[in-house]
Amino acid sequence: MGIITRRSNHCSAGRKPSEIMRFFVTTFISIVLGFFIGVSVPTLSITKLNLPSGLLPSIDLSYIEDRYTGRQAWSFMNNGNKRSSSQVQLSNDTSKIWVPSNPRGAERLPPGIVEAESDYYLRRLWGKPSEDLTSRPNYLVTFTVGYDQKNNIDAAVKKFSGNFTILLFHYDGRTTEWDEFEWSKQAIHVSVHKQTKWWYAKRFLHPDIVAPYDYIFIWDEDLGVEHFNAEEYIKLVRKHGLEISQPGLEPNRGLTWQMTKRRGDQEVHKVTEEKPGWCSDPHLPPCAAFVEIMAPVFSRDAWRCVWHMIQNDLVHGWGLDFALRKCVEPAHEKIGVVDSQWIVHQGIPSLGNQGESQTGKAPWQGVRERCRKEWTMFQSRLANAEYAYHNSIGIDTSNSTAH
Ligand SMILES: *[C@@H]1O[C@H](CO)[C@@H](O)[C@H](O)[C@H]1NC(C)=O
Ligand SMILES: *[C@@H]1O[C@H](CO)[C@@H](O)[C@H](O)[C@H]1NC(C)=O
Ligand SMILES: *[C@@H]1O[C@H](CO)[C@@H](O)[C@H](O)[C@H]1NC(C)=O
Repeated sequence: MGIITRRSNHCSAGRKPSEIMRFFVTTFISIVLGFFIGVSVPTLSITKLNLPSGLLPSIDLSYIEDRYTGRQAWSFMNNGNKRSSSQVQLSNDTSKIWVPSNPRGAERLPPGIVEAESDYYLRRLWGKPSEDLTSRPNYLVTFTVGYDQKNNIDAAVKKFSGNFTILLFHYDGRTTEWDEFEWSKQAIHVSVHKQTKWWYAKRFLHPDIVAPYDYIFIWDEDLGVEHFNAEEYIKLVRKHGLEISQPGLEPNRGLTWQMTKRRGDQEVHKVTEEKPGWCSDPHLPPCAAFVEIMAPVFSRDAWRCVWHMIQNDLVHGWGLDFALRKCVEPAHEKIGVVDSQWIVHQGIPSLGNQGESQTGKAPWQGVRERCRKEWTMFQSRLANAEYAYHNSIGIDTSNSTAH
């Protein structure tokens, strides 16, 4: 390997054949000299090269050549032929693997052994690995749950076919109780006390881990799914090219945004009218290009982007809904609401009640305040990041990007 690489370096430098010949001769001499030195002064060369002696028998020729000629013979060659000695020196890295196109941190591995992605497929402890998987679900659905909502989640899970991997994030520490449901034994359970959906998502839904799934549902626990069928939903999402979506919401009263309200007369919608003055641009939130954070569905590619936008310290996800559009282009065409498979937002307080009482305020108040604060923080981080980016490439946006 070392020789071949050196030769191609050599050729690209445009040497004449006689020089190439001379190069090979000197190289050969240096191999012999180096080997001789290496053999005759083993202690010196071994300590100098930091070479574990156990490695020696398994070293291939190029390695020996590099180690011995590149280092040891170099001083011999120095006076006579500077050019070829620098060639020899160049070659000392080629025996080591360094593949810049490997994932970051794995450059030392031969690409054939690198598995950059994983999945949530369950395997057996015995038998052939190739026969472990009886199915490979294409979709992933996660619910962030407390045991009190078990009946609701049981009903929801039954709306998702065997083409879905079920992943439950337990915020109340109760997991074994769920085994009363048959599906629970196939589900993935992640139990961490009192964390939020976006905290789990950031930590357990890394894009490389969920890479096999075409679509990822990241859902709350208080959704009524009587009028929802997940396979039908996926069909519509594919048909209409939605990278980020949610089912339409009922009942209409008490909902904040027009965009996510279910419409009875169509399969999906991507734009809406809002109250006068709410939309500066009909293609921007809240009139288009946004869904809420209670029941979003992401394509693999969209999720790869959105995951990076989720902040480690901002756990409630407020503000994320308005920023999702940064991840798809054109956002007003690839973000939408599926009307004909719709859900009921029951609004059952769960984690929201589990704050701590502080200075006489109810627990839920502290949580709500933090939600609002996180929203502001997220918005200003995003605006600052965009400003800094544009600034760095010499565009003065004069704060105009900060919607
Ligand atoms: C060859 O190895 C030596 C010592 O490890 C190092 O100092 C030198 O930079 C290397 N040469 C090249 C071209 O990488
Ligand atoms: C699972 O997916 C396959 C392939 O997309 C489809 O043919 C099959 O009908 C799906 N299963 C169910 C229960 O819908
Ligand atoms: C942008 O806004 C920030 C804070 O509002 C201000 O400090 C800064 O000077 C503004 N930049 C420009 C170019 O107007």
